[in-house]
Amino acid sequence: MNLEQREDNHLSGWSTAFGRNSIYALTLFALGASLYFQYRALGIAFADVSTADHIGYMLRVTARIAFFLLVLAMIARPFRQLTGTGLQLLRHRRYLGLAMAFVHTVHFGYVLAFLKNSDEPLAMVTLIFGGLAFLLTWIMAATSNNTSQRALGVWWRRIHTLGIYYVWLIFMNTFIGALSASSDPLYVGIIAAGLVAVSLRIAVFLRQRFSRTA
Ligand code: HEM
Repeated sequence: MNLEQREDNHLSGWSTAFGRNSIYALTLFALGASLYFQYRALGIAFADVSTADHIGYMLRVTARIAFFLLVLAMIARPFRQLTGTGLQLLRHRRYLGLAMAFVHTVHFGYVLAFLKNSDEPLAMVTLIFGGLAFLLTWIMAATSNNTSQRALGVWWRRIHTLGIYYVWLIFMNTFIGALSASSDPLYVGIIAAGLVAVSLRIAVFLRQRFSRTA
């Protein structure tokens, strides 16, 4: 390896670490800012925010931030393959996924708080389908490292593809349910972003299929 290549490797290692730390810092900042401005978002005085208000608000905030990070991680590769740009996004995909898993774990914490604080019973279907989504998120996070990737071989890709699409599906199902309950246009934007992410992935998959058979 010549000096130039070594320098390039060193720089890319440094810039990846900087990007990773920025993603983690921005994720924490987004959570902190959402917490700080909750009374404004809820449209009530700071002193009037009840525990139930706070839990409901943070459930929505954590779900939206986690979905945003999931969408970014999902489009990283197809965006690079379709446009030839976005190398940095692709390089940082793992950290976007890990940040998503962290925020989703905060959602899990608020789910526990919600169950403790409300009289609403947990439906079996929510427990099974929601529980599986958390489990897959944690499995993906635990295996998001080079050692696991090497050890799992072809299974790494299978587990992560299944996990991503399953978690995406649960998100979309919940957002579609929220849209039909509230008709807030924000949900239309969120659902559209989710559909664009999957469409990009399908477009790249089909392009690779057809270029192989052509
Ligand atoms: C046992 C599992 C879970 C329970 C009991 C649960 C409970 C809740 C509750 C009570 C809300 C707040 C509803 C509101 O006040 O509007 C919520 C919001 C949400 N949750 Fe969960 N959750 C679970 C798992 C999950 C999982 C695994 C995902 C995604 C993969 C998810 C995605 C969402 C979304 C998208 C929202 C709506 C956010 C919004 O309205 O903007 N939840 N959840």
